[in-house]
Amino acid sequence: MITYGADVTPSPSDTTEVGRKILAEFPDTAGSLGCAISEAVEAAVTREGYRYVLGSVLNQVLLHQSVIGLEAHKAFEKIGVTPDIIIGCTGGGSNLGGLIAPFMGEKIRGEKDYRFIAAEPASCPSFTRGKYMYDFCDTGNVCPLAKMYTLGNGFMPSPNHAGGLRFHGMSTILSEIYDQGLMEAKAYEQTEVFEAAVTFARAEAILPAPESSHAIKAAIDEAMLCKETGEEKTILFGLSGTGFFDLKAYEQYNDGTMTDYIPTDEDLERGFAYIPPQPEE
Ligand SMILES: Cc1ncc(COP(=O)(O)O)c(C=O)c1O
Repeated sequence: MITYGADVTPSPSDTTEVGRKILAEFPDTAGSLGCAISEAVEAAVTREGYRYVLGSVLNQVLLHQSVIGLEAHKAFEKIGVTPDIIIGCTGGGSNLGGLIAPFMGEKIRGEKDYRFIAAEPASCPSFTRGKYMYDFCDTGNVCPLAKMYTLGNGFMPSPNHAGGLRFHGMSTILSEIYDQGLMEAKAYEQTEVFEAAVTFARAEAILPAPESSHAIKAAIDEAMLCKETGEEKTILFGLSGTGFFDLKAYEQYNDGTMTDYIPTDEDLERGFAYIPPQPEE
């Protein structure tokens, strides 16, 4: 980013009012997507001519990413194959939401049946351990409320988990789909995710992003299950990004210094305490 002329300020910073508020409340935090969103919104609204566009979670971002699902759907049509299981990693839910959109439409309309799996980090388990409630999308509470699976806007995900899946909330569309039982969710620890990433990199010569590697882990698990049961299944998963921006994490994994962190129930309770009073539905 600096190469291309950007100034980079780590968040939370003392350059915004909301950043200073977050730093006063969480002096030891290493930051989170929720903190960065609050600061970015403030930076945009306090400068003439600036706009802030959220890069995940909101419906229009899922809509943009539905290009992935439409292309995947067309590709399967062309080869005359139907996937049985469709898997994606979930931070805010946009790449998975986009990937599954056309397939989920078919399932909801009763035209076809698919299994959908959301793969999330055990260190930030919004689906598997979160609550389905109205909450703020950001730590500084400058964004509107959204009904979603959430760990609470004050939940501070463990800084040791690599990549961008460490968001306390989840897309409202995916939350409703999950709540209706149309999709499953699984949580994975970091080292098992990197084990899957390395297996994939060696087999495919593609270095996957840590985020995408959660989906790879889920896909490998499903494939290994098929091996055990002798069933044949077609598995589609989203390879959402490259790992070349995360070589540090690969170094940690290869050095054996990578660690796992699963929040305790007490950690989660601290986060849930930030969920605001619920509006009348
Ligand atoms: C490569 C990659 N995949 C997935 C995600 C998660 O975002 P989302 O769940 O919105 O697709 C991120 C977020 O930073 C990412 O960088």
